[in-house]
Amino acid sequence: MTGQLYDAIHQRRDVRGEFTGAPIPAGVLDRVLAAAHAAPSVGLSQPWDFVLVRDRALREAFHAHVRQERDVFAAGLAGEQADRFSRIKIDGVLESTMSIVVTYDPDRGSPAVLGRHAIADAGLYSVCLAIQNLWLAATAERLGVGWVSFYREAYVQKLLDIPADIRPVAWLCLGPVTHLERVPDLERHGWRQRRPWQDAIHHDRWQH
Ligand SMILES: Cc1cc2nc3c(=O)[nH]c(=O)nc-3n(C[C@H](O)[C@H](O)[C@H](O)COP(=O)(O)O)c2cc1C
Repeated sequence: MTGQLYDAIHQRRDVRGEFTGAPIPAGVLDRVLAAAHAAPSVGLSQPWDFVLVRDRALREAFHAHVRQERDVFAAGLAGEQADRFSRIKIDGVLESTMSIVVTYDPDRGSPAVLGRHAIADAGLYSVCLAIQNLWLAATAERLGVGWVSFYREAYVQKLLDIPADIRPVAWLCLGPVTHLERVPDLERHGWRQRRPWQDAIHHDRWQH
């Protein structure tokens, strides 16, 4: 049990190029969504919702928007960095089986959200935990997940009829994959390296 959990944690990858487009059995999707919904949340507010996007036209429209935002980001790069970025695939929206848009409703359970009075972001943290549960459960089910954040929230709200006060936190691509890479794409392309976990540890105070 412990070994399988650690396996899922370390095998999890952000997937862009390895989606097959094969169907996801309904029971598997249910388990992944139930795992996401089992996440902890501030004041048990459960501020998340999951919009399952299968419609091809919606995904194509979103993909066109992502390409535009990719160009916006690329315009701020120069030299070797621009060159590296040009080789990096940033989404698998069209190749994956489906998308799941995970949203945040700051009003759920409010005004007295237990534990959020001093840290408004605690609501968003809760949504991210649901996303991570989904990601790990999908990995355990041998599915790939790719988080796409090259979008404007207002665009996704309009595209999917999401009310203005509900934030689309993540556009996730989901589906069977040929394999999961062992090394993250950004490392393989020399964009950034994962630092040793020991470097992230501080004892008693920040400086050590
Ligand atoms: C909040 C968030 C947003 C991300 N957005 C994108 C994205 O738009 N496109 C992309 O290719 N990867 C995106 N990623 C994936 C990261 O690049 C990836 O997690 C990181 O490079 C480490 O690789 P790994 O997830 O395979 O370990 C995102 C990840 C997070 C947590």
